[in-house]
Amino acid sequence: MQMIIHIFGGNMKEMNGKEFKVKRIEKGIVIDHIRQGQSMKILKVLKIDEKHGTPVLVLMFVSSTAFGKKDIIKIEDIALKKKDISIISLLAPDATINVIRNYEVIEKYRVEPPGKIEGVIKCPNSGCITNAKEPVTAKFYVEKKDGIANEIELRCGYCENIVNGEEITKLLI
Ligand code: CTP
Ligand code: ZN
Repeated sequence: MQMIIHIFGGNMKEMNGKEFKVKRIEKGIVIDHIRQGQSMKILKVLKIDEKHGTPVLVLMFVSSTAFGKKDIIKIEDIALKKKDISIISLLAPDATINVIRNYEVIEKYRVEPPGKIEGVIKCPNSGCITNAKEPVTAKFYVEKKDGIANEIELRCGYCENIVNGEEITKLLI
C-alpha cells in the first residue's frame, strides 16, 4: 500500500512563508471539507487498508477558510459507490466529493445524508429486534439535530433508539 499521511497542526500557508502544495491527482476522487480528525474513519469505511493498491493522500488538520481546520483525502483510481457516499455523509456532513479525470475536476458535489440507512449501522440496544436471532436488517432514519446545521442523528426504525456523533462509527457493521 502506498499511503502518505501529512499531519499538520498549523497553518499550511505559514510553513516557511510559502504555500504548502499537495500533489494534484490524475484520476480518482478527492474528498474535501472533512471535519478535522475524521479522515481515518472515512478510510476505514472505504476499506482503505494494507491491501489497497493505489496511492492515497491524507491531509489532516489543515487550515480551511470555511471550517477553521479540515481533513482532505485524495484517492487515485477509485470510484465511490452510492453506499460509500451515504456513509461518508454521516461521518462528514460538510464533505465535498470531487471526481478527477486527466487532472481536471469533472464533477463536484456535496454529500447528502440519505433519509434512511439499512444494514450499515448496528443498533446498540441489545433488546432491539435487529439484535435478536431474527432475519431483520438494522434500519435507521437519518434526522437533523435541532438547531445545529449539518448535524445529524440516527433513529432506529424498530426500537427508536437514537445514535449520534462518535457512536455512529463505532456501530458500523
Ligand atoms: N484536486 C486534486 N487533483 C486534481 C484537481 C483537484 O487533488 N487534479 C484537489 C484540489 O487540491 C482540491 C480539490 O481537489 O483539494 C478540489 O479542487 P478545486 O475544485 O480545483 O479546488 P477549490 O476550488 O478550492 O475547491 P472548493 O471550491 O470545493 O473548495
Ligand atoms: Zn434498535
